[in-house]
Amino acid sequence: MTGTPLAVIVLAAGQGTRMKSTLPKMLHQIGGRPLIGHVLATAGELSPESITVVVRHERDLVAASVVAAVPDARVVDQDDIPGTGRAVQVALDALGAFEGDVLVLSGDVPLLETDALHDLLATHRQTAAGATLLSALLDDATGYGRVVRGEDGSVSRIVEQKDATPDEAAVREINAGVYVFHAPALRAHLAQVGTNNAQGEMYLTDVVGLMREASLTVSATLAPDASTALGVNDRVQLAEAARILNARIVRHWQLEGATILDPATTWIDADASLAADVTVLPGSHILRATTVASGAIIGPDTSLVDCEVGEGATVRRTDATLAVIGAGATVGPFAYLRPGTELGAAGKIGTFVETKNSVIGERSKVPHLSYIGDTTIGTGVNLGAGAITANYDDVTKHRTVIGDEVHSGSHNVFVAPVRIGDGAKTGAGAVIRKDVPPGALAISVAPQRNVEGWVEQNRPGTGAAAAVAKARSAQKADDGAQEEEDR
Ligand code: UD1
Ligand code: CA
Repeated sequence: MTGTPLAVIVLAAGQGTRMKSTLPKMLHQIGGRPLIGHVLATAGELSPESITVVVRHERDLVAASVVAAVPDARVVDQDDIPGTGRAVQVALDALGAFEGDVLVLSGDVPLLETDALHDLLATHRQTAAGATLLSALLDDATGYGRVVRGEDGSVSRIVEQKDATPDEAAVREINAGVYVFHAPALRAHLAQVGTNNAQGEMYLTDVVGLMREASLTVSATLAPDASTALGVNDRVQLAEAARILNARIVRHWQLEGATILDPATTWIDADASLAADVTVLPGSHILRATTVASGAIIGPDTSLVDCEVGEGATVRRTDATLAVIGAGATVGPFAYLRPGTELGAAGKIGTFVETKNSVIGERSKVPHLSYIGDTTIGTGVNLGAGAITANYDDVTKHRTVIGDEVHSGSHNVFVAPVRIGDGAKTGAGAVIRKDVPPGALAISVAPQRNVEGWVEQNRPGTGAAAAVAKARSAQKADDGAQEEEDR
């Protein structure tokens, strides 16, 4: 397909009224990317000479998203004249005297695949057509433009749902909103498109009928998979598109060697990646740019956002964002890893543990009921149940630094800034306010003192007092029996 230069125009100026949203339709996401991002990615795979995106509604927001995805895309503003025809016309004006093929894509048709576009271009060039459109056969064509064919089977025009006669509305072949045009022919025929229709808009689709009247060839290729032509106009279609895209992504990783037990409850974003022999258990969400290395087991019921999971790690019932989980490490069940968590190889973040902005070294374990924030932990450390790093003094955050091979007792509070030296130990219930030197045992709890008889004196008549009385008489009986024996 070399030779004819290719320019892509993406239509993204519409308001998306049916979404009923303050967010422009193009920026609603599926698979972790805005709708327009999917269309731009597909367009980019064709390596066109240029990509021009037409904006109007919330133009700054949409333009920012476009430039973030394709820095050298040209953004063009549509004026007051409404309709897809006008949108293409302003883009075409920006292309100047371009003489090649123009591929028009709709920003709200996100599931298109590059193969379908290659077919479309090939047909267009083989048939030397003025226009070639992508069509699809739908059981329910409601809302789409219908492809009206003549007696010889050739495309004669496209009619919008709102302008269709009952016979035309019964047609199941729809216009996907994706076309290739010969630029000069498009320019000439757009100039003849008016706004005399049910919506008072300049329809791009009118170009098809006008070209046929001028005896130009109009070709069509049928999308082999109708779901790829799905247009997103409302939230029902948004969810449907998300589900179809997800099924496609899940299938892709399955074929790459990942075990994904329940595709229906597993959500994987377009930018995530899974190595071979990863296992994903039901109810897991692997989102944004998360990467999972081979042999790792994710889930059930786990959500990973922008995380890096090492080889053979296990992450169960966990919510993690911007965290790095080392090879062979275990996380969860019921762990919450906030941004900046780095767990070393063979380390552990266990049950009901929250971590943030902390490095936990190789083989180090935070197994139960803990909060670890703004902390650096060395290797081979074990923190007892209920470890809390008090990182915030009401004004600023401070770091806790724990050396290698430190073992802390249960229920410790580390009041930052504080350092625990290598190999040090802490007693149960310690509140560590001062640095602990290497190898020291830190105890901060006062020695225990038992005040005998306190309950009988201070809580007479209570259940506790009755229990004490019972214990005392049992003790007396025991002592009596012992005296008998000794005699
Ligand atoms: C359009 C087609 C319809 C086709 C369907 C496929 C027309 C007249 N109709 O209908 O035949 O079956 O897509 O999904 O083309 N846009 C602009 N400027 C505008 C209006 C729209 O840039 O003034 C953009 C929108 O942002 C959107 C695309 O064009 O990306 C399609 O617009 P939309 O209003 O959704 O058209 P449909 O009614 O879906
Ligand atoms: Ca649409």
